[in-house]
Amino acid sequence: MNETRRAIIEAIADGPVSGPELAERLEISRAAVWKHVDALRADGFEIEGKADGYELTAVGPYNGPTVEFGLEAPFEVEYHDSIGSTNDRGRELATEGAADVVVLADEQVGGRGRLEREWSSPSGGVWMSVVCRPTIPPAEAPLYTLAASVATARTAREAGVDARIKWPNDVVVPVGEDGDYRKLSGILTEMEGETDRVEWLVVGIGVNANLEAEDLPEGSTSVSEEANDVDRRVFVQRLLEEFESLRSDLETVVPAWRDLALTLGQRVRVDRPGGTLEGEAVDVTDTGALVVRTDEGRTTVSAGDCEHL
Ligand code: BTN
Repeated sequence: MNETRRAIIEAIADGPVSGPELAERLEISRAAVWKHVDALRADGFEIEGKADGYELTAVGPYNGPTVEFGLEAPFEVEYHDSIGSTNDRGRELATEGAADVVVLADEQVGGRGRLEREWSSPSGGVWMSVVCRPTIPPAEAPLYTLAASVATARTAREAGVDARIKWPNDVVVPVGEDGDYRKLSGILTEMEGETDRVEWLVVGIGVNANLEAEDLPEGSTSVSEEANDVDRRVFVQRLLEEFESLRSDLETVVPAWRDLALTLGQRVRVDRPGGTLEGEAVDVTDTGALVVRTDEGRTTVSAGDCEHL
């Protein structure tokens, strides 16, 4: 959001402020104040013009400016009612040099999952991609993916869902006691870099938020099905704030991930590039690789598709 508009909306959120007062505080003309107020109204902010000044009375629909308003994390939000894939748009922005931009959409018509799977993304979910330019080596990039899954699980838990994490980064809701689950969210991280340096990461986060059972793929669940519909604007803000706090202190990511893990202690089958592995998931390493105890001993798996047995 434009800095002047951000200053106006923040000023009038706490009570009425007159046009002349805003003009003086922001060192702009009264006509410019009026134009910005009009633009803010067009973005969906409800602003009453009273005798004692302008006052924000309600924050409108789910879009870029409303998500940015009140967001306590340094992201710019680019919103689309409908898009192919927010990750594709994120990659475009990353290639152009963008950093800390979130591409957010109400609906994706070409949503992509891991391992070239399709990702169903109807209107009502939270579909977004965060463009990051961290100064880390590629080996630490998985920590960003784990941070996204922890941030998502924490936000879903605040919304009343018993969200846990299945290695590496699916946010799931347990069904019964034996490791079964329904999937609530998935993360798809894409990266560009050299051997010793990440250039950019696009962290794609999909959450089945306000979706009903009949709109969900088999084996999935949603925040609405597990708890209640959420205000997606607030949900996205909380998720981004959690993500920001984790990525600012990468050492906190793996301990936070362990606290929410459903996979640890489970018998697992992991399909990985080198073949299939079966055993008990006993831990994760500092960079989020899964440690599996098999009949032959302990093995560390850094990437793969994991199934709870
Ligand atoms: C998976 O579990 O397979 C990962 C799913 C990732 C889906 C998200 S939705 C937002 C972003 N845009 C995409 O096309 N995919 C990711």
